[in-house]
Amino acid sequence: MSFPFADVSTRTIPDLISLSGRRAVVTGGAQGLGRAIADRLAEAGASVAIADLDLRRAADAAAAVAGASGALTIGVQMDVADSASVHDAADAVTEGLGGVDIWVNNAGVFPSVPVVEMSDEQWDRVFAVNARGVRNGAREAALRMTEGGVVVNVVSTAGFRGTAPGLSAYVASKHAVRGMTKQMALEFAPRGIRVLGVAPSYVPTEGNLAAAAAAMENLAAAGIDMSSVPAAMTQSLIGRVGTPDDIARVVLFCASDLSMIMTGSTLLADAGETI
Ligand SMILES: NC(=O)c1ccc[n+]([C@@H]2O[C@H](COP(=O)([O-])OP(=O)(O)OC[C@H]3O[C@@H](n4cnc5c(N)ncnc54)[C@H](O)[C@@H]3O)[C@@H](O)[C@H]2O)c1
Repeated sequence: MSFPFADVSTRTIPDLISLSGRRAVVTGGAQGLGRAIADRLAEAGASVAIADLDLRRAADAAAAVAGASGALTIGVQMDVADSASVHDAADAVTEGLGGVDIWVNNAGVFPSVPVVEMSDEQWDRVFAVNARGVRNGAREAALRMTEGGVVVNVVSTAGFRGTAPGLSAYVASKHAVRGMTKQMALEFAPRGIRVLGVAPSYVPTEGNLAAAAAAMENLAAAGIDMSSVPAAMTQSLIGRVGTPDDIARVVLFCASDLSMIMTGSTLLADAGETI
């Protein structure tokens, strides 16, 4: 096996950003950030597996990505919280694409429930998806990346600081993912695998917009006055909030050889909101 962290300084930029010949998995790829990430990875030349809870939605998204890029794509059913499901889906990807070189742990949930209201079950579900789901994905990826590879974890600015009321489990789980990104980088380096995190701030997506609407109801019911909360999620320094593709391009940078020197870092993709 050639040393996977080779000095790539003499290669051209088009060659460095190309993912031609690589096989990528995007969890939670049926919509939102995951779908945008799948589109850019495919455009850069990767074969892409979209993994999501519902097989039909995953397959439809995979077909749409293939239609736009011409890439080989497949959709697979996966519940990232369920180790057996992730294992089986990873096997299906290995068979369908011929291997795995890039694994994007993107699937996540962000229910808004105040600390004093949240049940143990609600807390555990957030951690099962957001934290254990990342461990499950990284484990199955690492076991299959026999020639090295890249794991990209979609974190959040909530992995750096507290955010809106109601997101205690989410904030804690994203801090956990940021910690895992460091630890997995350390453990996977001997396997030739780099591990990076990307931390978006607020980006309107299907899930995010639905969660925001539900959050307002939950917090109002708990007597929390949202007008007193700093607009932490809208303090963009660039005059607009991010788009899914803004985030996808940072993930592409991480997944490509452009970022060869980097592992263990989590990159803020936040329009300067967290400085
Ligand atoms: N949108 C934002 O503002 C924002 C900001 C920071 C971080 N993030 C993170 O980005 C990721 C994607 O967020 P989004 O806004 O695109 O969300 P979204 O709800 O629009 O999409 C999430 C996708 O993940 C899938 N999913 C949920 N649970 C799953 C599970 N257990 N197994 C497999 N798939 C599952 C859903 O079916 C959906 O297709 C999440 O990890 C989220 O925490 C989002």
